[in-house]
Formats: sequence, structure tokens, C-alpha cells
Amino acid sequence: MSEEYQEVPLKMIDPESDLPADLFLYINDKYIQYLHAGDSIHIDKYDLFLNKNVKSVYVKDEDYDRVMDWCLTVRQTFREELIEEAGEDAKEIIEEAFELEEELYDVFSDQVLTQERVEKLRSFADDFVQKASEQENFKKALSALLKRNETLAAHSSNVANLAVFIGMISGIGSKYALDNLYMASLLHDYGKVKIPPHIVENPSDANYERLMNAHPEASIKIIEKSDGVPEQVYKMILEHHEYWNGSGYPRGIREHDIYEYTPILSIANEIDNFLIKNRAQPDVKRWEKAIKMVENGKGSKWNPELFPRITDALKKAFLPGFD
Ligand SMILES: [Fe+2]
Repeated sequence: MSEEYQEVPLKMIDPESDLPADLFLYINDKYIQYLHAGDSIHIDKYDLFLNKNVKSVYVKDEDYDRVMDWCLTVRQTFREELIEEAGEDAKEIIEEAFELEEELYDVFSDQVLTQERVEKLRSFADDFVQKASEQENFKKALSALLKRNETLAAHSSNVANLAVFIGMISGIGSKYALDNLYMASLLHDYGKVKIPPHIVENPSDANYERLMNAHPEASIKIIEKSDGVPEQVYKMILEHHEYWNGSGYPRGIREHDIYEYTPILSIANEIDNFLIKNRAQPDVKRWEKAIKMVENGKGSKWNPELFPRITDALKKAFLPGFD
């Protein structure tokens, strides 16, 4: 990084507020002035940046502290306005969402994932899961599963916990998106409760393929009866067996036709299935193999852009002594 400029995560900048300093983009090894102090980033441009994966803008070294203070003040004002609009009842939820996002700025997705950052993310993920398990909607989802199939409930909750961690590794900082990922992970296989156990355990059964192919849709049909489930949750459940190269099911969709966070659920799901199948092996051994399995899916099962970030972080988190 040049001595003259400092990186600011784009996500920290409010697109409609007047900037306190000049803003630069880093293009072809050069810092190019993009906006002047007093300008603001137009919302369309802001979305375009995010869609094009532009994650950072730059400010002059001497402006950096002022810009960061400004970012936090704008956010604080926005937070207060939101609480005022939504009412005192929603205060705690809004506060928590903001706090989580702020903490996750520290591990901003473009930064190198050091061992220290990975550990920090793991503890964020643990806190998130701990709080989520006390939330009414998640409690209901889990107890519905538990009533029907304890093994499935245990798998689903493992997948949910792991998906939150992988989501954070991938740079998801929004509580809303993490909540959706958590909910989708809890309920992804719900449709399997309708398949008789003797068929689930017997791939050579004549009905196995048909019923397994239908389970993502069956999961959605069960959930459709409850109100207020976000669109993204349906998408992730429906697509959790779809693959980047189109070889998945039920629809065989591919690449960016798959919702961007679906692979996170898919990876967490396959890891947990692998760990369960190999439960007799020592932890480190089966984690080593599970991560290898994920690495082998780069570009075939999962978006190659997720690599090696996810697998490096999993190694740092689950393979002691890895560097
Ligand atoms: Fe499934």
C-alpha cells in the first residue's frame, strides 16, 4: 500500500451523504481521483461498485481519521433514525445488527485472513449462533425438526453453525443476510422428514432418486405455510444441491443463476455430511479430508472465486498447527 493513501471499505461509506474529503479509486496501479469533498456517491454507482466487486475506495493519508470518524457519525445518525422510526421495541435488535456489522468491518473480506482474524470470526460466529438459538423464529424451526427427526435436527443445526462461520469468512457482514443463511441452513432438508427412513438409508431403493431429487422442493412446500420467510431463504433451500457447473439438482442451474450465498450453505452441508459419515475417524483426519473434498469442488461444484479464501480459513480454524 502506498504511503499516501489509505483503504476504506466501501461498505462503510453511506452513499447519499456528503463526503468530508476527496475520494480515490485504485485502477491499474494508480490512485485516480473519483469524487471531491462535498460530493456524494450516487446510489446507482454505489450498487454498480458492489456488483462489480469493488470493495474499497481510498482517501489521502491525512484525511483517513476524519473520514473514518465521519463514517461512524453517519452510521450513528442512521441507527438513531431507524430506532426512532421502528420504535423502542425494535431498539435491541437494531443495536445488535449494527454492532455485528461494525465488528465485521475489522475482518473485511478483502483483508488477508490471518490466524488471528479467523479466530476472531469463529468467536463472532459462536456469539451469533448463541444469540440466534434464543430467537423465537429459530427456536420454532429447530423444535419442529427435533420433533420429527433428531438426527436431521442435529445435522441441520451443525450446518447452520458452520454456514454462519463460512458466511462471515466470505465477507457477509449484514445480520439480515446471516439470519437468512442461518434459517435456510436449519430448514434445508426439512422435506426429508416426509421420506420414509428405510428409503433415505438405501440409495438402491427404486424410489430413492425421485424422492431425494424432490426434497429441496418438499422443504419449501412445508415452509411456505409459515409467514414472513424471506425470498433468499427459499432460494438457498431450493438450490442447496445445485452446482456451479450445472451438474446439481433439482433444476441443474449453473454459475450466477445460483444465488450468491447458496454455495455457503452447500459447502457447510457437504462438510457436515462428510464428517458424519466418517465419525469413526479422529477429528483432525476427517477435517483434513473434508477440506480436501471442498477444494476438489472448486469450479465444478462451487464458484471458484470463493477459493482459496474459504478453504484457507477452514484449515486455520480446524487443523491445528496449519499455517
Ligand atoms: Fe439436502
